[in-house]
Amino acid sequence: MPARRIVWLLGSAVSITAALQWLAMTISRTISTPFTASSTADDVVRGADLAGVRAIVTGSSSGIGVETARALTAAGAEVTLAVRNTAAGEAVADTIEKSTRAVRPRVVHLDLANMRTVTRFVERWDGPLHLLINNAGLVTGGLERTSQGWELQFATNHLGHFALATGLHDALALGAVERNGTRIVALSSTAHMRSGVDFDDVHFERRPYDPQIAYAQSKTANSLFAVEATRLWANDGIVANAVNPGGVATGLQRHFTARQKESLDAAEAAGVFAYKTIEQGAATTVVAAVAPEFAHSGGHSPR
Ligand SMILES: NC(=O)c1ccc[n+]([C@@H]2O[C@H](COP(=O)([O-])OP(=O)(O)OC[C@H]3O[C@@H](n4cnc5c(N)ncnc54)[C@H](OP(=O)(O)O)[C@@H]3O)[C@@H](O)[C@H]2O)c1
Repeated sequence: MPARRIVWLLGSAVSITAALQWLAMTISRTISTPFTASSTADDVVRGADLAGVRAIVTGSSSGIGVETARALTAAGAEVTLAVRNTAAGEAVADTIEKSTRAVRPRVVHLDLANMRTVTRFVERWDGPLHLLINNAGLVTGGLERTSQGWELQFATNHLGHFALATGLHDALALGAVERNGTRIVALSSTAHMRSGVDFDDVHFERRPYDPQIAYAQSKTANSLFAVEATRLWANDGIVANAVNPGGVATGLQRHFTARQKESLDAAEAAGVFAYKTIEQGAATTVVAAVAPEFAHSGGHSPR
């Protein structure tokens, strides 16, 4: 047999072996639950007893975060609404208390784009924490920066949550001892497939600004956070997973361009995209937060 053919065969064998290994890893790391895209957050918590579970939901003054907080509260969890608009947070807490007749959620100020408020939030947190839901997020219409010059979407969606989670690590570790494990859920998005993290220019100081790429970069960071936090903290009993709630009509789309809205409408008309309800979107978060399948399994991220 000619040498070139042997090399080709060896090369093919190596790539087939690598592909099979990748497939085996992918299959073994795929977790199935009884829930589907149409399941709601209430479906997921039905029968769950979260009494004694202390949970934080960031950005729970609107959208998916409100429904996440409501479902966890209804199942008995002690929920803290970590919000930048505390008046809106108090109104949400009132509604949740009335509708669930459960313990009223606590409202604590947190502006993820302002590190001083993150530090203050962490300092005020007392005792164990069992569930951290990094839900808050924003899409901007153009380049905006924090007071220290950070690009606003990366600062809010990733850096603020990173500082929050690392600040609360000891509380999570304490919670893990108490309840045999604690979980972090990071809200990512399919948008993460549009961009990696540009470590050479995270804050768009040397490249043209594209708000969609900036959002995608921040959502990739949310996914990578779940992978690395699990790697570093699993021995402390803490696992983190990233989730994609699907397309849900919320305040998030307020800065979408006309073209983005048109392409979503066209995709919906063609039957390749359908909005989920807020209750269905929140179900994804709640699955990662309470389903037994994710109790000790972290580092999963949406594809
Ligand atoms: N909706 C979707 O189709 C979709 C798809 C994929 C992923 N996601 C993710 O799902 C998560 C929830 O979004 P949503 O759809 O529910 O949007 P939303 O209704 O706009 O809620 C976002 C929440 O984040 C809060 N927030 C924004 N900036 C903040 C800051 N600096 N500090 C603290 N909180 C801040 C907002 O507070 P204010 O009310 O004060 O602005 C709001 O409560 C986000 O992480 C988003 O990326 C959503």
